[in-house]
Amino acid sequence: MSQTAPARERTLIVTGAGNGLGAAIARAAAAAGWRVGVLDQDAQAAQAVASSLALGAVALQADISDERSVQEALDRFAQETSVAAPDGLVCNAGIVRFGPLLDADVADFRAVVDVNLTGTFITARAVARRMIAARQAGSIVTVTSMNGVAPGPNSGAYGPSKAAVALLTQQMALEWGPHGIRANAIAPGLINAGMSEPIYADHEIRARRESSVPLRRLGTAEEVAAATLFLLSDDASYVSGTELVVDGGVTMSVIASLPRPQSVDSVGDNFSAAASATEPGKPGTSRER
Ligand SMILES: NC(=O)c1ccc[n+]([C@@H]2O[C@H](COP(=O)([O-])OP(=O)(O)OC[C@H]3O[C@@H](n4cnc5c(N)ncnc54)[C@H](O)[C@@H]3O)[C@@H](O)[C@H]2O)c1
Repeated sequence: MSQTAPARERTLIVTGAGNGLGAAIARAAAAAGWRVGVLDQDAQAAQAVASSLALGAVALQADISDERSVQEALDRFAQETSVAAPDGLVCNAGIVRFGPLLDADVADFRAVVDVNLTGTFITARAVARRMIAARQAGSIVTVTSMNGVAPGPNSGAYGPSKAAVALLTQQMALEWGPHGIRANAIAPGLINAGMSEPIYADHEIRARRESSVPLRRLGTAEEVAAATLFLLSDDASYVSGTELVVDGGVTMSVIASLPRPQSVDSVGDNFSAAASATEPGKPGTSRER
């Protein structure tokens, strides 16, 4: 008879999981066998998502920018699950305030930094302290943005806050790595979910944006969730301090959108023609110029 002990149930807290990407991450994690703490400042939203998940998901109401509120939520999760520290944390909650920098309201600027950067720090540190006290390895994933990789117009503190979260994540990896804690960031691109959904209700904007992506489409919340699950999982056991850009290639494609002389654009035409000529069932074509 096998003496192997059953694998311990793994636990995970996802912030901002009452909607959008966080809810998709919570769903994917529950489907992969994690017991999930669905944390959101909106108690009803957290409850609705938690109730839709299997495996005893726990709804946690908390404001991530308020240290006491976060500690109370972590205490509650520990009581519900009987584990001192979760095995994983996804710092996903974030906000944006649009408007040109010249007119940006200082209170709005501060609010974005407070939630996106300080809230991520508060939550990640509180969980890391518990992991370390329990002598338990863990994985933390932060959610940044393509706007933290390259600036977007009229998004105030959003991009700068996300760039800072990327560096904060590396700092976590550096300082907490010796305790067995991995820290990585996910940088979503053009995703048709959550805070971006209203943008894509405009069909013309949507079509123009899709055509700028090398993969020629928007991403889904489920695709962001799959990448997040990879970073949380043991498959990424030696991955720490990295930022995984999940954007269909759009962030790196800026040079492709610049105007080019025809002499440069025609380079490679011979190869394209030869390739299509050898494609099965497709006659070779030569492009008129
Ligand atoms: N949707 C996108 O296209 C996209 C692209 C790049 C990055 N992101 C990032 O992904 C994350 C999730 O975005 P989303 O589109 O799902 O947003 P969303 O607005 O749909 O959901 C965010 C959730 O976070 C919660 N929240 C906000 N402030 C909070 C706080 N102080 N404490 C606790 N919960 C709080 C909200 O109640 C909400 O349920 C954000 O960090 C965002 O910056 C989103």
